[in-house]
Amino acid sequence: MRLLGFQARMQSSPAGYAPSGEVDEYLLTTEGDVKGWRDGGIVSIGESITLADLERNPDPVLQRLRAEEPISWVPAMGMWLVTRWDDVARIEANPDLFTAATQPSLLARALGPNILTCDPPHHTRLQSILQPPFQSGGRSGDFVTGELAPLADRVLDEIDGDGFDLMADYAQPLSAGALAVVLGLDHHGFDTMWRWCEGLCADLANFENDPGLAARAAEVKAELGEAIADHVASTTTHDDGSAISWFVRNGATPEEVVNNVRLMISGGINEPRDGIGLVAWVLLTRPDLRQSISERPSRMRRLVEEVFRVYSPVGTVTRQSTTDLELGGVAIAKGDLVSGVLRSANLCESRWADPAEIRLDRREGPHAAFALGVHRCLGEWLGRQEVRIGVERLFHRYPDLELDPSHEVVLHGFEFRGPRAVHVLTDSSR
Ligand code: HEM
Repeated sequence: MRLLGFQARMQSSPAGYAPSGEVDEYLLTTEGDVKGWRDGGIVSIGESITLADLERNPDPVLQRLRAEEPISWVPAMGMWLVTRWDDVARIEANPDLFTAATQPSLLARALGPNILTCDPPHHTRLQSILQPPFQSGGRSGDFVTGELAPLADRVLDEIDGDGFDLMADYAQPLSAGALAVVLGLDHHGFDTMWRWCEGLCADLANFENDPGLAARAAEVKAELGEAIADHVASTTTHDDGSAISWFVRNGATPEEVVNNVRLMISGGINEPRDGIGLVAWVLLTRPDLRQSISERPSRMRRLVEEVFRVYSPVGTVTRQSTTDLELGGVAIAKGDLVSGVLRSANLCESRWADPAEIRLDRREGPHAAFALGVHRCLGEWLGRQEVRIGVERLFHRYPDLELDPSHEVVLHGFEFRGPRAVHVLTDSSR
């Protein structure tokens, strides 16, 4: 889900807040380990971190934070970065101490109040209405059993057989199409679904209040609102089995349907797309893994989990402390923003042996790529199947697929990380 981190960026450091007491003490205990220099003085690691560094290559920064400053105030982001597994798990286990209803919230402003901007018990009710269609026993189950592989094959049919970018030409239409079918919006076309996703995401990233972006988002919201309203109206006479029909029939108000479908469209397309791109790219660069999976195809499920763990397409969950508290020995003030860094927890040395290595026989337990707490991904079952079956169909169609050496694959992003493009060559294009 490509969303909550955006909330944080619009918020500055809590008024007058300077975590100096703990930092001074911390710096004394780590004398000799100079973290950085600013205006001639020692600064913490957090103070030296820029968002650009994190977006380019977060892992070395996060590794250092885990080792030396696991709860770190980062002025450039206006929040605490929490990087060890146990501390991230503690945030996730205590929604009463770390609320998702942050103030202010760009997520709520852009999409309207939704499941990701509230806490239990309100959240519990919404989850009970919104989740069933995304589980194996609901609409997603039927879709995955009977429709997902044919959908992937149809998207592949559209590719002309020469080299292509598997992100733009395959993973993106497949992810947009899958969510459109499950929601019951597929008759609008996958391109429209993608356009809605882009419009909503642009609004979510509109930190500068650009009027052009806001106007485009308003247009998308109006168009999508009309499409949902039509669908809702038709479900009163006819249950088409779609997720939207389920929401209405199970007590969601019209506003809840609209806001949460917006949330699903803005978050439930980019992540499976990045997952498909990442797993395919790993297979294209690791002949040993490709060989292992061709020998035993059931290993693909484990590969998908390991790729989610090592690359964590959703990097963070952002919350706000509801009271003065202590986390990992550091005092956090009421109202501070706290970012639990999932991608760091997923590489935390205290939980994983040789954390950066993809191992198909790991036994350390579940990872945190879909989060750990009450806001754990609502679409995770569907998302996993999209990634696994999407990659399987790709390599079934093109068993000799190779990376195009004339294009470098670049991963980008901190809150949301994936390849911008993955150019590949099919057998016929070599
Ligand atoms: C396959 C890749 C996906 C990944 C890695 C992923 C990851 C995540 C994460 C980490 C969260 C927690 C966010 C937070 O607490 O701030 C989340 C929440 C959510 N995700 Fe996903 N997601 C994926 C796919 C999907 C799909 C396909 C949908 C389709 C509807 C979806 C819908 C949601 C929703 C609605 C939430 C909010 C749940 C709540 O607040 O209770 N996600 N996702």
